[in-house]
Amino acid sequence: MTAPPPPQKLDMFGVIQHIQGDAPWGSVLDAGTGVRSARWISGLPSSRWTAVSADPDHLKLTEAAVATARRPQDRLVLGNWQDPALLAGESHDTVLAEYLLGAVESYAPYFQSDLFARLRPLVGGRLYVVGVDPYVNGVVTDETGALVQAIGRLRDACALLAGVMPYREYPAEWVIQRLEQVGLRIVFARRFPNIYDRPWVKRQLDDSRRLVDLINDPAVAQALTGQIEALFQRAEDLLGRLGGLAHGHDYVIAAVTG
Ligand SMILES: C[S@@+](CC[C@H](N)C(=O)[O-])C[C@H]1O[C@@H](n2cnc3c(N)ncnc32)[C@H](O)[C@@H]1O
Repeated sequence: MTAPPPPQKLDMFGVIQHIQGDAPWGSVLDAGTGVRSARWISGLPSSRWTAVSADPDHLKLTEAAVATARRPQDRLVLGNWQDPALLAGESHDTVLAEYLLGAVESYAPYFQSDLFARLRPLVGGRLYVVGVDPYVNGVVTDETGALVQAIGRLRDACALLAGVMPYREYPAEWVIQRLEQVGLRIVFARRFPNIYDRPWVKRQLDDSRRLVDLINDPAVAQALTGQIEALFQRAEDLLGRLGGLAHGHDYVIAAVTG
């Protein structure tokens, strides 16, 4: 008998394409870019796209990933939304904030409440927000949830001890309130069950190892390395049995100007 296929997480870009339907994409702004979202927007029938990142290394990787798909009118821009001059006076038909909100803590701490007011003048037609509900805290009663939390907590602890600001996620309701406060009308809001896969676990634990290298207390660093390896073994065991770690939700919110 063959094993059932591992559970798959729904593709959030597919959800957005479904919401968009036949409406034209026009000029597209990827307000928090990365390899995945830049690849996706560069495949859309847009008139032009602009991709923004506050992180020069991230932007370089992204630029390389879309080098062949990029047209002369497409731009990658290094900048921080805290800077009032960034893309000042521009308007884009479609704006994407894909896992941007959670990352703001690392690049512009305490700016989250102002983020959507800052992006509002740039939204010519529609804004799509993709995010993840906070998943590191809260009561869990299942083994997979406990493991995902433990991995997230260890990664965040390593970041703090290394002097790096960890990501901070916000719930969908918080985002909806902020969007309405800046005069946008919500036309779609839905949660989707999250399933964390092996590459996600590997990314979190690799990041944790890199962060441990920045901690200058050898005893603490050694203890954390032991924790990382223990969580890796626990994850291997559960992933081997279940194929994926179901825990929490992602969300997609679409808001329009009219
Ligand atoms: C987690 S990544 C987003 C994921 C990305 N969409 C992808 O496909 O991988 C967060 C992005 O938002 C950017 N970002 C975070 N805070 C920012 C800010 N204050 N201003 C501009 N960009 C910011 C980061 O530099 C990074 O490019």
